[in-house]
Amino acid sequence: MKALILAGGFGTRLRPLTCTRPKLMFPVANRPLLDWVLGELSKNGITTAILAVNYMADVFVRYFGKSKYGMRILYSRETKPLGTAGPIKKAETLMSEDEEPFFVLNGDILSTIDYRALYKAHLDSKARATIALHEVEDPSRFGVVELNEKNQILRFIEKPKSGEAPSHLINAGVYVLDHSVLDIIPDGKEVSIEREIFPVLANDKELFGYRFESLWVDIGKPHDYILANKVMLNTIAAQNHIERGSKVSRKAKIIPPVAIAKGTVVEADAVVGPYASLGEGVVIKRGSRVENSILFPHAWVDCSASVKNAIVGEGAIIGSWVKIEMDCIVGDHAIIDNNVTLTC
Ligand code: GDD
Ligand code: MG
Repeated sequence: MKALILAGGFGTRLRPLTCTRPKLMFPVANRPLLDWVLGELSKNGITTAILAVNYMADVFVRYFGKSKYGMRILYSRETKPLGTAGPIKKAETLMSEDEEPFFVLNGDILSTIDYRALYKAHLDSKARATIALHEVEDPSRFGVVELNEKNQILRFIEKPKSGEAPSHLINAGVYVLDHSVLDIIPDGKEVSIEREIFPVLANDKELFGYRFESLWVDIGKPHDYILANKVMLNTIAAQNHIERGSKVSRKAKIIPPVAIAKGTVVEADAVVGPYASLGEGVVIKRGSRVENSILFPHAWVDCSASVKNAIVGEGAIIGSWVKIEMDCIVGDHAIIDNNVTLTC
């Protein structure tokens, strides 16, 4: 089985951190988001993953190379953004080595969906496309469907205006597509699968839905990213993942779950966790506190500072007695002066 992963977005809602790395390479429990996605695909029997890359393509090639978790990794490079359907058309020759239906995934999603069950549901329904559906409280930021009792999608509406969503069932960004879907995607231009392809298939009664309830998190905004890190630390990552080569004082308090990478220093009287990811070479000085936050490699937190519900970029320096909270993003190499309070 093959999977094409849409990995070319600009991640504008996570700037400035996406100015220096693609969103899909952001650390989640100290592993790139896309690394987790590929791990799940491999567990589900996918043998070839095609990365549709565009923005900062080389970062992916350098990290993942030609194979990962026993899967073959291929790259389809765009010279200009092609949206969410254009890249599928562009990769047509890579997908067509056989005529089997294939998976398409938004790469910015963490889930433990049963891909095999989704694939089977697709074959059973004889639909041209099957979309994984997840129920959420507020569907307005997503693609929303109207589904009948046979799991046929009657309508697909991308990001409906408030009050106009037909249900709480949203497009989870995981699809199985038949090869014939490639025939209705125009070549060489930006095309949105959500706005230009799914509505056509729904209208032709050829679009089905597969509901699932397992873990699903979309990483779009800072709050979602912090939540994804928390969920991953809680459910998939080892409860207290402290790598060798880190120096954690016996007088520091570590509250699980946390992920602490090699080369990290946590001094006495510091409190780390719950839900803290400290990247390689991070320094947490005496008396500081880090909770429900992600610190990119080589961030430095000086004495008696507090970082809560925040993201701190690579090499950033947080002064002593600084307080950072409420989904704040501190950019790479930023310097926050002593005693400053940051709330967003
Ligand atoms: N290769 C490539 N080229 N990939 C792209 C491009 C492009 O031009 N534009 C976006 N992508 C990738 C992004 O990297 C991401 O993995 C995926 O396509 C979806 O784009 P987003 O920009 O993250 O879309 P969204 O989150 O607003 O909405 C989508 O995801 C929701 C689920 O999280 C839609 O598919 C919604 O219908 C869905 O509910
Ligand atoms: Mg998204």
